[in-house]
Amino acid sequence: MSKRFYITTPIYYPSGKPHMGHAYSSIVADVFARFKRVEGYDVLFLTGTDEHGQKIQKEAKKNNKEPKKFCDELSEKFRSLTAILNLSNDDFIRTTETRHHKSVNEIWNRLVKSGDIYLDKYSGWYSVSDEAYYDKDEIEEKDGRKLSKTSGSEVEWVEEESYFFKLSAFQKNLLDHYKKNENFILPQSRKNEVISFVEKGLKDLSISRTSFSWGIPVPQNNKHVIYVWLDALTNYLSALNFPNTEDKKYKDFWPADVHIIGKDILRFHAIYWPAFLIAANLPLPKRVFGHGWILSDDKKMSKSLGNILDPIEVIKDYGIDQLRYYLIKEVSLGNDGSISMENLKNCINNDLANNYGNLCQRVFSFIKKNCGNKIPKKNKLRENDIKLIENIKNNIPKLISFIDKQNLNEYIKMVVNFSFEANKYFNDSEPWSLKAKDPERMNAILHTILEQIKNISILLNPIIPISTKKVLDTINLSDKDISIDNIKKDDIFNYNLELKNLDILFKKIENDN
Ligand code: ME8
Ligand code: MG
Repeated sequence: MSKRFYITTPIYYPSGKPHMGHAYSSIVADVFARFKRVEGYDVLFLTGTDEHGQKIQKEAKKNNKEPKKFCDELSEKFRSLTAILNLSNDDFIRTTETRHHKSVNEIWNRLVKSGDIYLDKYSGWYSVSDEAYYDKDEIEEKDGRKLSKTSGSEVEWVEEESYFFKLSAFQKNLLDHYKKNENFILPQSRKNEVISFVEKGLKDLSISRTSFSWGIPVPQNNKHVIYVWLDALTNYLSALNFPNTEDKKYKDFWPADVHIIGKDILRFHAIYWPAFLIAANLPLPKRVFGHGWILSDDKKMSKSLGNILDPIEVIKDYGIDQLRYYLIKEVSLGNDGSISMENLKNCINNDLANNYGNLCQRVFSFIKKNCGNKIPKKNKLRENDIKLIENIKNNIPKLISFIDKQNLNEYIKMVVNFSFEANKYFNDSEPWSLKAKDPERMNAILHTILEQIKNISILLNPIIPISTKKVLDTINLSDKDISIDNIKKDDIFNYNLELKNLDILFKKIENDN
């Protein structure tokens, strides 16, 4: 039986065009998806758009468009971003699709059947922008406006008939689950936040609205539409052809291995979602990982500050691998991280151009000049050659465990260090001084360094897929060679073929542009 891995991003509101925060979540999830494939897993990677609810209806109206038409246009921007970011997603779900509608109906009916839904009246605060209910102690007043303390978005008073979900009854179930599955919510700081919230006691949750119509109708009462979060969360099942629990996709991939989300939507994923699933008698996802905020020059991105970073513009100027590398390397996953174009440039120059790029380029041109452009065979390696090669192989279990704990920063730190060491080895071994004196030794050094280039490229592939493929292609390795198994095996080169030409991998960025 093959090993399987199911990973998701949030499904984004197509209420405006995507920004750097959306790109960040998606790139992070993509790196994990790609790594697990390289490790040999059968991976399902899902992303998409969250298209119902008051926020979308309002935004569509502002733009004089029918909600569906409005969503069609903006969802397309998110879909095309997946290509621009070079995401390897297997599916793109829209909550306005029939497959999703069926799945939400089934979840609703299951909650009715389990006796966890009742009709009452809701009165309280609601933020349309967050699509979230807030208690009065979660609200503050600023300049005469009532705002959510956590998100800063405006809240309004809502009073309407509503179906409720008996969330209060799930406190113990949830606390038990967090305790038994200590990595269900990561990072740890986020988990503690959730536990203390749940320990304070949970109120029943309003799960339908009557004051607008843009949503999935409640099956038994079409005056109501289903609360957009109950609708949205179910997308993770819809993509597996739920409610058909006999379907191969569902059987292979549920429960999900990890939902990658931002910390803003932790409550929905770590409290509501598992409670809905327990009530619906379905297995819970294995993990919810809530990353931090991307800050633009130390500030939260917002329209009013005018500091919203457009990933498409940055990619045009600097390249997609460059952006991916920078976000993964320089933002500590789990914490807030400030990004700036200045730091991006430095990162491209110092890390990509001077380290990995330089390693590949200097070794390839040396081989072209001195070895008839062919990889020297493995022959008479010395202790320090073997030590270098073994160091990567021996660290594979550690690298896998970093990934499995979503510890991307330790992962990339270690791989970058391999690249530093390889550069240092090349300098210290001075192959250029051996061509006449000891060509056999020169060849052993070159073989060793190419082994390193191959292995480092495989390990960097999930982060910078385009550049690493170019490097691997230069040494005549193809997509199917990109696997952890090929790090464990050495000597997979084709010695008969000449190296191909490699253009500049990472152009240095001048500091005055
Ligand atoms: O909340 N830094 O959609 P959304 C990092 N539709 N990540 C950021 C970010 C930032 N500054 N800004 C946004 C929704 N994100 C719901 C989700 S899921 C069933 C439904 C990312 O369009 C981050 O992942 O508001 C955050 O959780 C998500 O975008 C919110 O996207
Ligand atoms: Mg949001």
